[in-house]
Amino acid sequence: MEQSENKLLHVAFIMDGNGRWAKRRGLPRHLGHKAGCDRIIEIYEECLAQGILAMSLYAFSTENWNRPKSEINHLFKYLEIFFKKEINRIIRDKSCVRVSGDISRLPKKTQKVIIDAVEKTKDFTNFYFNICLNYGGKAEIVRAATLFAKEVEEGKRKPEDLTEDLFESYLYTAGLPPVDLLIRTSGELRTSNYLPWQLAYAEFIFPETPWPDFTKEEFRKCIDIYNDRNRRFGSINEKEK
Ligand code: IPE
Ligand code: IPE
Ligand code: MG
Repeated sequence: MEQSENKLLHVAFIMDGNGRWAKRRGLPRHLGHKAGCDRIIEIYEECLAQGILAMSLYAFSTENWNRPKSEINHLFKYLEIFFKKEINRIIRDKSCVRVSGDISRLPKKTQKVIIDAVEKTKDFTNFYFNICLNYGGKAEIVRAATLFAKEVEEGKRKPEDLTEDLFESYLYTAGLPPVDLLIRTSGELRTSNYLPWQLAYAEFIFPETPWPDFTKEEFRKCIDIYNDRNRRFGSINEKEK
């Protein structure tokens, strides 16, 4: 899908800072993830209120397996609780749950809850709630290349069929618009293997606030900053000609 104007269709979040948020309060890190999961619904609702079409949430990266097992298990448990609690609201909103990443390595219970959410919402088109779980950008691109190569091997495609649009159809985010705005909370200035293809022309904002404190008011401020940005897509603006 082409990007050509400022309209905010797809916002991606790197929900960072849960651990530091907890540590600052003298709490175990996993309670930061709990507070982080509790933040999601307010930001989701604000996306709907703002007429945004899609949100992507970085919930667990392929690199996050390097964390202690108990932290990882707590995080999956809180995500499970989130979906169980909010699925009816998501259905009511006619929002479609999408998953980016290989969830087969997640605990069976977590997989079940997520697959159930995807299944129940798969025909909805009002909004796309894309949860990135065991997601890695490099792994996603390798997966897409492999899927294409297999189709070439089977004689369904020729190497010269490959275009940017066709390549996109093998990504987890197939059919979603490219990311317009990336928000990474908690002040780190990097993308940590998040949506490298989809972010190619995104605007980046890095609020200092840790994710568990990121409110809809702060989100609105980010949207104001985004609206003031001048997206050129390699061209020059009318007034600059
Ligand atoms: C983000 O918060 C959530 C995940 C990576 C799962 P962190 O847990 O990375 O929080 P900090 O960066 O340690 O504060
Ligand atoms: C990125 O945050 C992953 C998620 C928010 C899920 P990390 O906290 O894992 O990233 P690094 O390690 O600081 O790059
Ligand atoms: Mg972090």
